[in-house]
Amino acid sequence: MAGGELVRFDVDAIRAQFPILTREINGKPVAYLDNAASAQKPEFVTDAMNECYTHSYANVHRGLHTMANETTERFERARGIVAKFLGASEASEIIFTKGATEALNLVAYGLMSEIKEGDEIIISQMEHHSNIVPWHFMREHFGAVIKWIPVLDDGTLDMDAYKSLFTPTTKIVSIVHMSNVLGTINPVKEIGKIAREHDCIFVVDGTQAAVHIPVDVLDIDADFFAMTGHKLYGPTGIGALYGKREMLERLRPFQGGGEMIEDVFEDRVTYTEIPHKFEAGTPPIIEAIGLGAAIEWISGFDRQAIIDHEMGLYSHALAGLHEINSFKLIGNAPDKGSVLAFALDGAHAHDIAQILDKYGLAVRAGQHCTQPLMTAFGMHSTARASFGIYNTYEEMDRLIAGVNKARLFLS
Ligand code: ALA
Repeated sequence: MAGGELVRFDVDAIRAQFPILTREINGKPVAYLDNAASAQKPEFVTDAMNECYTHSYANVHRGLHTMANETTERFERARGIVAKFLGASEASEIIFTKGATEALNLVAYGLMSEIKEGDEIIISQMEHHSNIVPWHFMREHFGAVIKWIPVLDDGTLDMDAYKSLFTPTTKIVSIVHMSNVLGTINPVKEIGKIAREHDCIFVVDGTQAAVHIPVDVLDIDADFFAMTGHKLYGPTGIGALYGKREMLERLRPFQGGGEMIEDVFEDRVTYTEIPHKFEAGTPPIIEAIGLGAAIEWISGFDRQAIIDHEMGLYSHALAGLHEINSFKLIGNAPDKGSVLAFALDGAHAHDIAQILDKYGLAVRAGQHCTQPLMTAFGMHSTARASFGIYNTYEEMDRLIAGVNKARLFLS
């Protein structure tokens, strides 16, 4: 698929590749609108994984036999696919991780020896907990100071406030590329440029962005960029950390074990080269191959056609929902992706989600792992519909009708 002609965007043909979408929930066809939490998997991905399990499977990097070599070749090929997808200079700059959370923890852990009491880390109020808690570890263990970029009412970052946060002891800036709640696409290139003017390490949480917009880590000039597979139509248990070669070489290894060492003696240990320095133990082999397949699959389409489709769905749904008096959209940034977080006056988000489920509509409700954002917006929780490549306009009409029913019942 990758490298060849692009596949024409045809939502029916796309849906036919996702057997799970034929399921019924409560007697209604499922409308899966929880893609920001996790996306469904096309047969292209499950077939690729199944083919390994049933045709050529062994552990990687260790064997001298045919299937070990074949599996290693496929595993390393997947690394190359991720590198190309993110625009990395070389495949060695891609570390396979369990997901974006582990990728961000890897960075924070690896930088621990460089942080001392009073050093500052800038993050924003719209971060996912995975880009907050690892920095809290640094605060707890080393006395680092976390500074927060405020979020404005429309869901954009307060860039003037950001510029004013720096002091000579600011060491790291770590920012989400696209918010999982507001949908805001942050100006990461500009944020990174400012971070660099202050000699800071620049980390980007690309969990949602890698799914919805083309990413070029060299253009962003990120030191580190974290992504995950399961939101990108790939398997769970696999993600990736991009790091510039010199930055990865600078980091301490995250976990110790086999495959990440050069030599182990009774009194000392030396570590191997990147990327293996960060991949202790048997890696998630089939999952990495599945992630490579997911990227090949999505790269078979014109990315702009996917963006147009998803944002068309978003605008259609929003126009209908705005007709509801008690509807309130959370996040209205001019540059945003297909995430629609909302509240209804007088209704609890969990109740909204439960009513929608009765109509076969799968949405998420809660804090979405963004408690500081909820606090900043004075909210306890929101409902959230998030759209993917296989969603349809008919599903948007069902969402509007479902929220109307929830309003009648709850408000
Ligand atoms: N953190 C993921 C979400 O946004 C699971 O739903």
